[in-house]
Amino acid sequence: MRTRDLGSTGIPLTTVGLGTWAIGGANWRFGWGASDDREAVAALVRGVRAGANWIDTAAVYGFGHAEELVGAALKQIGPGSRPFVATKCSRLPQESGVPRGCLQRDSILRECEASLRRLGVDHIDLYQVHWPDPEADLEEGWDALGTLLQQGKIRFAGVSNFDVAQLDRVQARRPVASLQPPYSMVRRGIEPAVLPWCAAHGVGVVVYSPMQKGLLTGRFDVARARSLPDDDHRSRDPEFQGARLAANLALVDALRGLAQELGATVAQLAIAWTLRRPEVTSAIVGVRRPEQVEELLGASDLALDAAVLGVIDRLLETREARLA
Ligand SMILES: NC(=O)c1ccc[n+]([C@@H]2O[C@H](COP(=O)([O-])OP(=O)(O)OC[C@H]3O[C@@H](n4cnc5c(N)ncnc54)[C@H](OP(=O)(O)O)[C@@H]3O)[C@@H](O)[C@H]2O)c1
Repeated sequence: MRTRDLGSTGIPLTTVGLGTWAIGGANWRFGWGASDDREAVAALVRGVRAGANWIDTAAVYGFGHAEELVGAALKQIGPGSRPFVATKCSRLPQESGVPRGCLQRDSILRECEASLRRLGVDHIDLYQVHWPDPEADLEEGWDALGTLLQQGKIRFAGVSNFDVAQLDRVQARRPVASLQPPYSMVRRGIEPAVLPWCAAHGVGVVVYSPMQKGLLTGRFDVARARSLPDDDHRSRDPEFQGARLAANLALVDALRGLAQELGATVAQLAIAWTLRRPEVTSAIVGVRRPEQVEELLGASDLALDAAVLGVIDRLLETREARLA
């Protein structure tokens, strides 16, 4: 698998990393329906053995459950082959199942201890502020990550879901190692300002949901979208409904032929497309079954030339026109 350095950290990450949101289970408001723990751990182990050198998780995924499963996978993988482990803080569990944003210093220090315990590690490689929420407390939260760096509990500090103004605020206090934003063929908001800002400041970019939560894989259709259970948050996601769903599925249909010509799958095309931007260090892909792994990791080696990118541009314009 190809690697790219994570911004200025000097750490080479494989251009596809393993994501763990969906494996958190269905016990909270943003779950992905029922998930099989044994399969999830097996998928992570298989992913690392197949060459992915990093895993992304978060304390909030299943309110700690995803981190526990990452910990179980790390045990099976063994310390000699340990992948780079990224997790996130600042979303606290609530009884309602809806997480609450908290950037208070003591809370983040406590969260870090709990993540270290669940992951079964003595340090976290990349610790990220999950959301800029509440925005008034950005500096307090970011300074708490500075304390954790000094204490050696985390190696690098990054942020997620920040815009340029928010990045400027934290960068003014201490350099940001990485940003984790959403990015896919149908979600391109970071292109005009965020990606250039990251390039200018030597900040690594690890993009999430490159397959738009499974929509851009060729394995979704109207019937599956309509039958998503209530405990799968995608049943409430606008991209999985009405005109947007129809436009997304039409895009996937149009991508099928192109993927076939390249000897690739639609999922691989969707992932490789995000990697065409040099500012993007790595794409995080959600895996929860072992048989999904090889296909997703294969995207790391799929280079798209200018002619192919031109065809995709036109397909994306057609989708936009459909929705206008
Ligand atoms: N920082 C943040 O706020 C944030 C937000 C979102 C995501 N993330 C991170 O980014 C990761 C990736 O994003 P994501 O999980 O939202 O979306 P994604 O990678 O775009 O899509 C993942 C989903 O695609 C489907 N899929 C995976 N492999 C497949 C295959 N080979 N064939 C067909 N379908 C396949 C699976 O859905 P099914 O299992 O239903 O088939 C899987 O759960 C997350 O796991 C998380 O680590 C971070």
